[in-house]
Amino acid sequence: MKRLKSNIDHTEAKFKEKVEVYKELMDIFHAEIDKVLRRDDDPSVIRHRTRGKLDARSRIDLLIDEKTPFLELSTLAAFGQYDNNFPSAGLVTGIGKIHGKLCMVIANDATVKGGTYISETLKKHLRAQEVALRCHLPCIYLVDSGGIFLPEQVRIFPDRDGFGRIFYNQAQMSAAGIPQISIIMGSCTAGGAYVPAMSDETIIVRNQGTVFIGGPPLVKAATGEEVTAEELGGAVVHTGISGVADHLAENEPHAMQICRNILEFIPSNESQTLEMAPIEEPAYDTGDIYGLAPVDLRKPVDIIEIIARIVDGSKFEEFKQSYGQTIVTGYARILGFPVGIVANNGFLTSEASLKAAHFIELCNFRKIPLLFLQNISGFIVGKKYEHEGIARNGAKLIHAVATSVVPRITVIIGGSFGAGNYAMSGRAYDPDFLFMWPCAKIGVMGGQQAQDVLDSVNGNNQQDLINRFESESSAYYSTSRLWDDGIIDPADTRTVVGLAISIASNKKTASPKNGVYRM
Ligand code: COA
Repeated sequence: MKRLKSNIDHTEAKFKEKVEVYKELMDIFHAEIDKVLRRDDDPSVIRHRTRGKLDARSRIDLLIDEKTPFLELSTLAAFGQYDNNFPSAGLVTGIGKIHGKLCMVIANDATVKGGTYISETLKKHLRAQEVALRCHLPCIYLVDSGGIFLPEQVRIFPDRDGFGRIFYNQAQMSAAGIPQISIIMGSCTAGGAYVPAMSDETIIVRNQGTVFIGGPPLVKAATGEEVTAEELGGAVVHTGISGVADHLAENEPHAMQICRNILEFIPSNESQTLEMAPIEEPAYDTGDIYGLAPVDLRKPVDIIEIIARIVDGSKFEEFKQSYGQTIVTGYARILGFPVGIVANNGFLTSEASLKAAHFIELCNFRKIPLLFLQNISGFIVGKKYEHEGIARNGAKLIHAVATSVVPRITVIIGGSFGAGNYAMSGRAYDPDFLFMWPCAKIGVMGGQQAQDVLDSVNGNNQQDLINRFESESSAYYSTSRLWDDGIIDPADTRTVVGLAISIASNKKTASPKNGVYRM
C-alpha cells in the first residue's frame, strides 16, 4: 500500500508556533483531567480512605487484567457545572479486560456526594449500558451510591430515560445473555438497591456493603423500629438470610477476586473476525498533529497530513482520489485493524456526498470498520448547488451512515456544524463511539453565522449571541453534557480508535441492508 507523502516543513516558524499554541491548550486540558483524577486533599476523599475504602479508579485497577488498557469514557462529565462539585459526574465508566474478556465497568464514586446521581451521572450510566448492549459486553457494577441526588430528582426520576431505565436495561441485557454482575462496596439505598437486586450474580463486602429499600432513619420514622444498617441489610444478612447477595467477600480485593473468578466461567462472546496485519507505527511523528489540528476553524486543514499521522505505516489506499475532493475516503490500518476512513477536506458537495455514500456501502459489504474524521462547516450553499440537488445527494450520504452496520467510530477533530454533523456520523447517527479533540466545536452553526441569520431575519443585533454560541459549542461544554464519549489528546487518537474498534468488534457484524449501488 502507498505511503502518504508529507509536505510539512518542521523548521517553518508558522508550524512551530501552531505546535506551541496547541501544546498550551493541551496543558489546560491535562490540568482539568488532573483535577478530576487527583483529589487527595478533598475531605470526602480523605474520609473515604480512612474508612479503609479504595477510590473508584483503584478498584477498577484491581479488577481488570494486569497491564491491560482501560478505555475510560467521559472523564469530564459535569465539568463546569454545579460549581464543579461533581467530578466525572460521580461515576467512572469504561471498558477493560477481566479474565481476557472485554467488560463494561460502571463504578460509583462515593466521595462525590455519597455517589448520588445528578442527570449527568444518569446519562453516563445509561450510555455505558448502551455501549455494553451494542458491543455485547458483560457489565460489572461497583456499587457505592446513595441513589438519586434529591435536590435534582425532577431531572432524574420521572422520564423514560430516568433512574428506572438503569434496571430496565439490566433486565434487557440479562435476557439478551449479557451478564450483569454487581459488587456491593458501600451503600445501595432505595432505588439504588435495584442495581444489585437486578444483577445475575452479586458479591457483597463484609462490614461495608449495605442494601435496603429504606435506611434505618426511614424505618424509624415509618414504624418506630430501631435497627442498625448492618442488622437491616448488611453483608451477613444478605448472604445468609435474605439471599439478596450470593457471595460474601472479606474485603475489597477479595470481592474483585471473586468477580474475576465469575468471569472465568462466563463463555466468551462470538466476536467479528477482522483480518489483522502486524502493527506499524506511522512513518511521521504523531506529535506533529498539534501543528496540524484545527484551532481557527476558518482556516483549511490538509486532512491527508493528519491521516498520515494516525494510520499504521502512514499507508493509505485512497478511494476516488480525484473525485469529490472535499471528502477523503480510503482504506488503512490502525493498530493492525483494517479501517475505512471518511474525512472532511472542505465543504460537503454533491460529488463528495455520493463518493462517501458509495465508500460506506463498500465497507459494509466487506465488514470493514469505519472511522469518521469530522471537520465540517456544513453542506455547500448557493443556487447552483441547490439546482444540482445537494439536498437529495446529501440525503443519500445521511441514509448510508444511518443504515451502516459495521463498527463506526467518529472523532470530531475540528468543526461539527449543521447537517455536516449528521452526514459525518454525529451522535444522533449512533456511532459506537464518538470522541472530540480539545479545540473541536459542535453546534448548528458558528456564532457569527447565527448572528448574521438573526440580523437578516428580524433585524435584531444580538450582541451576546456570538459569545454564547462560542461557549456552548466548545468540546468542554459538549463532554460535560455527555454529547460525546470524551475529549482525547489528538496524539492518542490511533490508540483510542484502535481500542474502540476492538471493543465494537466484540459482537458479530450484521449483514448490510442495501446492495452496493453506484449513485
Ligand atoms: N441526595 C442529596 N444529597 C445526598 C444524598 C441524597 N440522596 N445522599 C447523600 N447526600 C450528600 C450529603 O448531604 C453530603 O453532602 P455534603 O458533602 O455537601 O455535606 C454528601 O452527600 C455525603 O453524604 P454523607 O452522609 O456525609 O456521606 P456518607 O458516606 O457517610 O453516607 C450515604 C453516604 C449515601 C450512605 C448517606 O448519605 C445516605 O444514606 N444518604 C441518603 C440515601 C437515600 O436515602 N437515598 C434515597 C434516594 S433514592
